[in-house]
Amino acid sequence: MGCLSRRDFMRVAAASAGGLTAGGLSFLAACERQSSPVVPEPLTRNPLRIPPTVLPAGLSLAARPGAIDLGGGRNSLAWAYNGHLPGPTIRAKQGETANIELRNGLPQETTIHWHGLIVPSLMDGHPHQTVRAGAGYMYQYPIVQRASMNWYHPHPHGRTGEQVAMGLAGAFIIEDGEEAALGLPSGTHEIPLLLRDANLDSGGNLYGQAPSGPQTNIALVNGVRDARLEVDTTLYRFRVLNGANTRVFRLALSTGTSFTLIGNDGGLLEAPSQLTEIVLAPAERLDLIIDFSKLNVGDSLMLRCLGANWDLLEFVVARRGAALGSIPMALPTIPKLSQADVVSTREFEFGGITINGKVYDMHRVDFRVPYGQTERWRFTTKDGSAPHPIHVHGASFQVQSRSGGRGTVFPWERGWKDTVLLMNNETVDVLIRFDHYRGMYILHCHNLMHEDMGMMANFEVY
Ligand code: C2O
Ligand code: CU
Ligand code: CU
Repeated sequence: MGCLSRRDFMRVAAASAGGLTAGGLSFLAACERQSSPVVPEPLTRNPLRIPPTVLPAGLSLAARPGAIDLGGGRNSLAWAYNGHLPGPTIRAKQGETANIELRNGLPQETTIHWHGLIVPSLMDGHPHQTVRAGAGYMYQYPIVQRASMNWYHPHPHGRTGEQVAMGLAGAFIIEDGEEAALGLPSGTHEIPLLLRDANLDSGGNLYGQAPSGPQTNIALVNGVRDARLEVDTTLYRFRVLNGANTRVFRLALSTGTSFTLIGNDGGLLEAPSQLTEIVLAPAERLDLIIDFSKLNVGDSLMLRCLGANWDLLEFVVARRGAALGSIPMALPTIPKLSQADVVSTREFEFGGITINGKVYDMHRVDFRVPYGQTERWRFTTKDGSAPHPIHVHGASFQVQSRSGGRGTVFPWERGWKDTVLLMNNETVDVLIRFDHYRGMYILHCHNLMHEDMGMMANFEVY
């Protein structure tokens, strides 16, 4: 541990930021009471932030405390990679080597896990390989996967939730030739959207602990509350991540217009689909095209969460635009894992904060999986403790079926996945094969509160 305990650190931070914001807030609140507007003023929305793009070779990521504007010019204490919330977007090409140094400037241990990337066990940022406060670690691995949107975040046992809530997360996009040949919208028309919610304490600062008092819960898109994006009348490609600790988003557009879904966790799907509503659990990703070409300058529409009844991001049509990119009719073919090749079925029951009745023990190997063999993993929830977004490290899987509960496999669950949502009383079958590395990996619930409380299991690929 560093020189400050976590509690001290939070207290110091709250005190130093409180001097600035608490006074300002009470002053504003007093003004509002005096003018007592009958008609609520229209909400001023804040420009969406686009994190800087960086390459994976020779990259250094410093995790450290800092002040971040969450929109509207009010700074919040946060923990961020290189001072950015979200962290810089890493863009890599398949076949390249990542060389990324973590420098831990936090008052506690951390790791970086490359969620969705298939990397050697020692590079995977497991709870077993934590980096002390003040220390560093060199992550080095080849990019072996197809084009996809992944992400990076801390993974120390018991503290992942706090560190992610405080702001540590960023997008990691892999490109390949197959995707490049499709001519999808790119550059300023390809935009990462990291969705999350946040608890703010009474000083307006990000609050990293599980809610236990009077906090406000707000939505952040790329770290900005009440975000707004100016678009032109053309196609945009949005790379969407649910980076929330526990919240499931039900995404829709305020006009009822459909999204064109072209990809998810493991890259492009085999065919686009038109959807007006998508349920996205923590750690799941979407690759969406939105077509603004039928709109007029001055029109606006809102990306909403129907679950929370939140306006997440307003799109304002600012100008006419040339037709850029297109929606391909045919997307790449995905090799199928086959039921006929299944060598064994493993069952996992998720209940409360346990997997098969057990709480995580960092030093216990819960099961061993043969390298290069196709297995069926059957995930089940029986009690009322869901949602449980189940995530596997070390390989992607293909969802075969869902019985009970919602009873169907949704269009955003086709292709390659690394996280799948289970609601209550569901059984989801997936096929999985570890064909890159042997070694220790983990399976866990990506509700970070469940994860931190021990809803994880170690397994060894041999
Ligand atoms: Cu996104 Cu094991 O984590
Ligand atoms: Cu992961
Ligand atoms: Cu869970």
